[in-house]
Amino acid sequence: MEFQIVPVPAEKLKAKIADQSQLGFGKYFTDRMLVVEWKGGQGWVDARIEPYAPFSLDPASLVFHYAQEIFEGLKAYKWVDGRIALFRPEMNARRFNQSGDRVCLPPIPEELFLKGIEELVSLEREWVPTAEGTSLYIRPAMIAVEPVLGVKPSDHCYFFVIMSPVGAYYAAGFNPVNIMVEDHYVRAVPGGTGEAKTGGNYASSLKAGLEAKKKGYDQVLWLDGRERRFIEEVGAMNMFFAYGSHIVTAPLNGSILSGVTRDSVLKLAPILGYTVEERQIDVNDLMSDIRSGKVTEAFGSGTAAVITPVGKLCYRDEVLQLTGGQVGTVTQKLYDTLTGIQTGKLPDQFGWIRFVA
Ligand code: COI
Repeated sequence: MEFQIVPVPAEKLKAKIADQSQLGFGKYFTDRMLVVEWKGGQGWVDARIEPYAPFSLDPASLVFHYAQEIFEGLKAYKWVDGRIALFRPEMNARRFNQSGDRVCLPPIPEELFLKGIEELVSLEREWVPTAEGTSLYIRPAMIAVEPVLGVKPSDHCYFFVIMSPVGAYYAAGFNPVNIMVEDHYVRAVPGGTGEAKTGGNYASSLKAGLEAKKKGYDQVLWLDGRERRFIEEVGAMNMFFAYGSHIVTAPLNGSILSGVTRDSVLKLAPILGYTVEERQIDVNDLMSDIRSGKVTEAFGSGTAAVITPVGKLCYRDEVLQLTGGQVGTVTQKLYDTLTGIQTGKLPDQFGWIRFVA
């Protein structure tokens, strides 16, 4: 499929952010966006890269009422030799369609997803920031735009991609965040939408997040929805716990997100000399293992969050500090290795990089 390129008038081109240390996360957007429409009976039509602008949508559009929506997150990095690298974008394409399947959005050919992103990034290459710890965050999404109030899968959808030059997801940068285990609200239940990247999962996490913030915590760590006992994930990250050089994470049980960074950690850790295990983690055992010093580090993984160390973990009334509130050696090593591959400083031994032409 060819993309129609709609030019951006010169006077509409935005100024780039000069001080890249001020980028933050998701505050600025590039000049262009990709839009492809899907119509029942026709399939994918009208692929275009056009000036970044608000959509004009019917207020009856299904997405506004029943949240038929999915999204992804991936990043582009500018290497010192000027090439632009995407990290494992095929995984995002695959997961996008898995999420879509769960909420009855139409599958998009992986080739179209990848080619669209590559063309958009290529046109916007000047927007890829270069400072340490920065990247161009890519946000593909699909929304249901059929204007009808009956609850049904939409006959008309938009696939679109917007992009934002970003720094660290957390304001503290690569520094420990404090996390509260949530034992009242739940994020997902077996058979629910927990493993789909759909907006509703994030909407339903907001209240718990606000309450945690009031208590001084950056994020909540979700427990399983049935027993409120087993560690699941932090909305923006999968979680890992290091028992010395043994790293443990929750299994993909259907209610947590199958993270691209999670998978990368599981593959990188063994070559760095660590052992990995995916197993159910009982929060009571975890707290006792932190208390006794068996758990030496905790960190989260995610595209936006990269590898984020955890400083404090609170469960009910107990607050435990990890790694003396510092960044642990396992966390640091994984961060350095992952970001080293993404930015071309370390060899890409798994073939994870895809260059943009
Ligand atoms: C990502 O890491 O790309 C995500 O989509 C998480 C989001 C909360 C920023």
